[in-house]
Amino acid sequence: MFDHVNRMSLADYDRWRPGEFMSRFSIDLGLMIDAVSISLPQMVQVTVTFVAAVTWMVSLDWVLAIVLLACTPIVSIVIGRFNRLVTVSTRMAQERIADVSSNLAEVLGNQRVVKAFRRENFERDRFAGANDAYFGAQMKVTQLNQTQSPVIATIVSLAIIVIVVMVVSEIGAGRIAPAQAIAFFGAMALTINPMNRFSIFLGDFSRALVGASRVFEVLDLPIEADDPPGAVRMPSVVGDVRFENVRFAYSPEGAPVLDGFTAEMLHGEIVALVGPSGAGKSTIANLVPRFYSPQGGRITLDGVDIATIRLDDLRGAIALVPQETQLFNGTIADNIRYGRLEATDAEVLAAAREANVAEFVSALPDGYNTRVGERGVRLSGGQRQRVAIARAILRDPRILILDEATSALDSHSEHLIEEALDRILPGRTTLIIAHRLSTIRRATKILYIESGEVRETGTHDALIASGGSYAGLHAAQFSV
Ligand SMILES: Nc1ncnc2c1ncn2[C@@H]1O[C@H](COP(=O)(O)OP(=O)(O)OP(=O)(O)O)[C@@H](O)[C@H]1O
Ligand SMILES: [Mg+2]
Repeated sequence: MFDHVNRMSLADYDRWRPGEFMSRFSIDLGLMIDAVSISLPQMVQVTVTFVAAVTWMVSLDWVLAIVLLACTPIVSIVIGRFNRLVTVSTRMAQERIADVSSNLAEVLGNQRVVKAFRRENFERDRFAGANDAYFGAQMKVTQLNQTQSPVIATIVSLAIIVIVVMVVSEIGAGRIAPAQAIAFFGAMALTINPMNRFSIFLGDFSRALVGASRVFEVLDLPIEADDPPGAVRMPSVVGDVRFENVRFAYSPEGAPVLDGFTAEMLHGEIVALVGPSGAGKSTIANLVPRFYSPQGGRITLDGVDIATIRLDDLRGAIALVPQETQLFNGTIADNIRYGRLEATDAEVLAAAREANVAEFVSALPDGYNTRVGERGVRLSGGQRQRVAIARAILRDPRILILDEATSALDSHSEHLIEEALDRILPGRTTLIIAHRLSTIRRATKILYIESGEVRETGTHDALIASGGSYAGLHAAQFSV
């Protein structure tokens, strides 16, 4: 299941709340685990007891044994009715617990914002709402389970009363010896517990089936790892990327973000995408590694449509420094090595030096073995970015995609990052979504993007000289 979720395309993954997956991993799998590890062994034990006791009863007096067994069809009808109700209400309860998990994941992940806005009470009430809804739904399941047991027990008890009356009259008539009657009651006593427990187990199994169906919903989601038959192998890549009349919308109903987008990003070029917020710059960058597929037109790498390239080869040629740097809980060295797992220590250190990570690591007591905390919270924004750049350098990609953070860095960090960029950009195809003038100046070609279209193309100086929209944005943003 983990592997499956890991291999989903981003387009499919984005449609899900992470909490929805979390609850399926914990609660729904939990129902299945309980059924297999607790209910199943007990059920085996109880079944053995039941079969042995019934066999004994049949050997003592088969007519009386049949009276007891006659109540099994009634019991199974009742259990069947209950199970349908249990299935429906378990499904509702599982959906509500998924809401609780989503809420939990979101609030735990955004503690800084919650605290900054003093929204502790607000979040408590919001959580209480989700929690109450879950409580109500789970109460239904519990009520059903707790009603089922006495109903079954009553049916079984009625059958036993009938048998006891029959046995007593048989003894009176002298057709059955008291010793045999006592043995029969002993055997019958052994069947009562199993009959009551069966209904409970069946309830557990119906709930486990609901869990299983929710787990299989995930396993049935499409994954992207399967390359189409005949996918093109590209062991060595030059790095010429071309967008040809690309049309793309995040959802089929939504307005297209890109409509007829055409651009070239060739080997050796440093292409800066510049434009107002929401223009579609990150979207363009996301299409190159095929995170999403365009609905029209095509994107080619060295002349081959990327839709037909083996995903390993396509993404193997690319390194990405995302807009919000994402690190993993682990050491600084671990995070850099994520770019190429088989890299030697010397290579990791070299990448760290090039990205100016070495500059702040030397001041840390544990050096490269410093743990960065979940998502890298123990590093500053600028430090995180440099680690992310080192990770990309280690990969030595043909195509480097850099989605520059919109947040401003202090001039020292900025300078160190620029230095790092100067070292790594040459000789590749670089796509920078640039917000900083210093990075824009570094570009060999600027694509000025507005509403998903290239409005102007050229070098910084040429675009300024032409006095168009880029010059306007530049003047407004950097007041020069
Ligand atoms: N995952 C998504 N699902 C749906 N719509 C999205 C998604 N990501 C972006 N969009 C929409 O696509 C449009 C372009 O977004 P994009 O992130 O490409 O902008 P951008 O140019 O990178 O902006 P910025 O400079 O602020 O980073 C926006 O209108 C945004 O609302
Ligand atoms: Mg962006």
